[in-house]
Amino acid sequence: QKFQSMEESSSLVERANCRAKGGAPGFKVAILGAAGGIGQSLSLLMKMNPLVSVLHLYDVVNTPGVTADVSHMDTSAVVRGFLGAKELENALTGMDLVIIPAGVPRKPGMTRDDLFKINAGIVKTLSEGIAKCCPNAVVNLISNPVNSTVPIAAEVFKKAGTYDPKKLLGVTMLDVVRAKTFVAEVLGLDPREVDVPVVGGHAGVTILPLLSQVKPACSFTPEEIEYLTKRIQDGGTEVVQAKAGAGSATLSMAFAAAKFADACLRGLRGDANIVECAFVDSQVTELPFFASKVRIGRNGAEEVYQLGPLNEYERVGLDKAKKELADSIQKGVSFIRK
Ligand code: NAD
Ligand code: LMR
Repeated sequence: QKFQSMEESSSLVERANCRAKGGAPGFKVAILGAAGGIGQSLSLLMKMNPLVSVLHLYDVVNTPGVTADVSHMDTSAVVRGFLGAKELENALTGMDLVIIPAGVPRKPGMTRDDLFKINAGIVKTLSEGIAKCCPNAVVNLISNPVNSTVPIAAEVFKKAGTYDPKKLLGVTMLDVVRAKTFVAEVLGLDPREVDVPVVGGHAGVTILPLLSQVKPACSFTPEEIEYLTKRIQDGGTEVVQAKAGAGSATLSMAFAAAKFADACLRGLRGDANIVECAFVDSQVTELPFFASKVRIGRNGAEEVYQLGPLNEYERVGLDKAKKELADSIQKGVSFIRK
């Protein structure tokens, strides 16, 4: 299967742009790591999003096949594939939103931090490309360890003079998706009716669900709180173990990433009251990055919300989370500053 030539797809892109001008706004979205476990499902879901006019799929392997496949879906986004480092700049030029699920996943027995060695370099290279080719794009960073890769991207952008803290969002949506599912199960509700803030970061004890703030208002027994907190914190490991060496969460992650990207696009469009949890540049605690609810608008994460009242169990959890987070953030920062 050959790629569409640049000229062929350029004219399709122009048509998509015209459509966007005449009717619904269309955004240009790139997925970096599009041929991977998350990347493929996410490509499919973003091709289904009516806010996307142009979808760029970049990976170091297999993008021709994924692109040909996804491009046959009869939705409006024009899909173009980009293969290998030499095509990274073309993949990124002109993008409004860049979603990054590139990098290796965990196997049983590994922590997310064990992925640092390989993924830190990948995120550094991709962030350098973003700084050069689409410095104003909103970035959704999925690659683990998120607690360190977000600081890495921030440092790369600072070095390039392009850092806009509002535009860099570490994706912690899967923690929220899991929290809603598990809490709804306990309460006997539809997960779509449940709201659970999950703050802190995206690894083990740094994942801190605020069960005292669940909506609709409810109360849990101490056993339920212990069960839910652990299950949410260990949700990733639950999937890694069940996949038994074949990787980590991909389908639920693609779902969560697509939901989060859609929230970002609606924010960019100017919709009001788009509020989601994300790991961002933050002054909510003494740490430079922290996950909490943010309001997403035309400029990205325009407002970072305070945590609200915490109970004693959550205060203890917060202290633990901050200790681990401080080290992970520092590790990411030092990787670039060293
Ligand atoms: P995967 O191995 O299936 O796919 C990763 C893809 O990245 C591969 O196609 C690979 O070719 C590509 N890749 C590698 N180096 C690249 C580069 N330099 N440029 C572009 N692409 C490159 O892995 P996966 O299951 O899709 O997971 C990807 C990452 O997402 C992992 O780091 C994983 O830990 C992380 N993850 C994060 C969350 C979260 O909640 N934030 C959830 C699940 C997984
Ligand atoms: C997850 O939460 O599923 C991801 O971070 C992947 C992992 O390694 O657990």
